[in-house]
Amino acid sequence: MAALGWPELRAAVADCTACRLCEGRRQTVFGIGHEHAHWMVVGEAPGEQEDLKGEPFVGKSGQLLDNMLRAIALTRAPGPPQQQVFIANAIKCRPPGNRNPQPDELAQCEAFLIRQVQLVQPRIILAMGRFAVHSLLRSTEPIGRLRGRVHHYQGVPLIVTYHPAYLLRNPEDKARAWDDLCLAVETVQATALR
Ligand code: URA
Repeated sequence: MAALGWPELRAAVADCTACRLCEGRRQTVFGIGHEHAHWMVVGEAPGEQEDLKGEPFVGKSGQLLDNMLRAIALTRAPGPPQQQVFIANAIKCRPPGNRNPQPDELAQCEAFLIRQVQLVQPRIILAMGRFAVHSLLRSTEPIGRLRGRVHHYQGVPLIVTYHPAYLLRNPEDKARAWDDLCLAVETVQATALR
């Protein structure tokens, strides 16, 4: 895995049959964005819309994600690496009926995410939601306990925040998510000054 470039990694994901999720998928959802983005967003797993389109975060939570990114001058649209993010999920195939990903599925898929981080070499990772955090930080602590400080993943600063789908159900936590985005911006700026 560590030797794979982008085309080989894309092919490895597309052909993956390492866990049972391959049986129900229409297609894998590799991720999208600038291959050397300064910002990497990591979500959980594709839902129905993502499985249809082959792109992460295209449903309702994707619209909220796009708005959150726009608020800090970022986008998924083509642009320079400081503006165009790379968006990936911890799991590349849709769990049936949008059930939660299981620990063995997260474990099987992890090598793909590790290689994506190695290839992108982002300046910051935004981990959205419980399962992204489980996979990246190996922590089962609630988001509320992990947010508000800078973690690290493979040497890259990582900020934990709420998943957009959670924020759609709990809009009262949007102010906290905004604080998380501000912390991420400050962290990137502080790293650039060093
Ligand atoms: N939720 C996620 O975590 N990822 C997606 O791609 C869509 C919804």
